[in-house]
Amino acid sequence: MTSLLEFKNITFAYGGNVQPALQNFSVKIPIGKRCALLGQNGSGKSTVLLLANGLLKPNEGKLFWKGEPIHFKRKNLKELRKKTGLFFQNADEMLISPTVLEDLSYGLINAGLVGEALQNKLEQIIKRYQLEHLQDRPIHHLSLGEKRRVALAGIMGLEPELLLLDEPTTYLDPSQTEVFLREMDRIHQSGATVVMSTHDLDLAYEWADWIFVIENGQLIFEGTPDELFVNERFVLEKGLSIPLLFQLKQLFGAKNASKEEVLLLLKGLLEKKGDS
Ligand SMILES: Nc1ncnc2c1ncn2[C@@H]1O[C@H](COP(=O)(O)OP(=O)(O)OP(=O)(O)O)[C@@H](O)[C@H]1O
Ligand SMILES: [Mg+2]
Repeated sequence: MTSLLEFKNITFAYGGNVQPALQNFSVKIPIGKRCALLGQNGSGKSTVLLLANGLLKPNEGKLFWKGEPIHFKRKNLKELRKKTGLFFQNADEMLISPTVLEDLSYGLINAGLVGEALQNKLEQIIKRYQLEHLQDRPIHHLSLGEKRRVALAGIMGLEPELLLLDEPTTYLDPSQTEVFLREMDRIHQSGATVVMSTHDLDLAYEWADWIFVIENGQLIFEGTPDELFVNERFVLEKGLSIPLLFQLKQLFGAKNASKEEVLLLLKGLLEKKGDS
């Protein structure tokens, strides 16, 4: 499998911590895949994403972009950050301009857009992410969910080659989660690789085509969602849970059914029960 970004024997400890957040951590992020990064609180998910964007520097080990080593020099890091877009777990850290419009413009200008191209892109992002009513609002007047939407729109609007999203759906309401998932699919279909950390196992199961599980700074599983969740004992032991859709598929013996087909089966069953 071709990897876009590879972590090879990475060890990283936050300043002052004796216990490393990642220990001899190796992973290959497969090109073009939708990857979910799972693991309990403190397992190392955010650390992986911060290293992947070059915001943290490994104490030991190497990172490779399409097989080429990444050097932690200013020029290389600038390149890496152009190709990757990171949505922080704490979205507040990402919003730096006084208003929504200025904040979105800032990211685009940094990415090299000017003049008409900048205006067109801004309009597109505002429309796609349904931010029309928020565009002139001061950032500090936004709700938590609104702030996260603006930060997400800013990152996703840049359409990076590798999209790194740290618990992006937290605080989004169901309709905004839909908007986000639709946009993420669009970006993925245009060729991007996505890595999303999440505690929402239903979302991970329905969305991802590849799953990584981390525990205590080490990779303990990688594979398809079905390969993970079929191993119920392992999943529960690792503090995760079995997604509802997976449970229903097992119940109906419909391993390859889509969500819609499973819902139809369930509806049929309930109607039958109502008739009897
Ligand atoms: N800024 C920091 N300074 C010191 N230690 C940190 C810092 N950030 C994280 N850690 C520690 O590093 C380890 C990995 O943390 P990390 O934030 O990567 O976990 P996580 O899997 O993202 O957790 P969560 O699900 O809670 O977001 C934990 O032991 C955590 O306490
Ligand atoms: Mg985290």
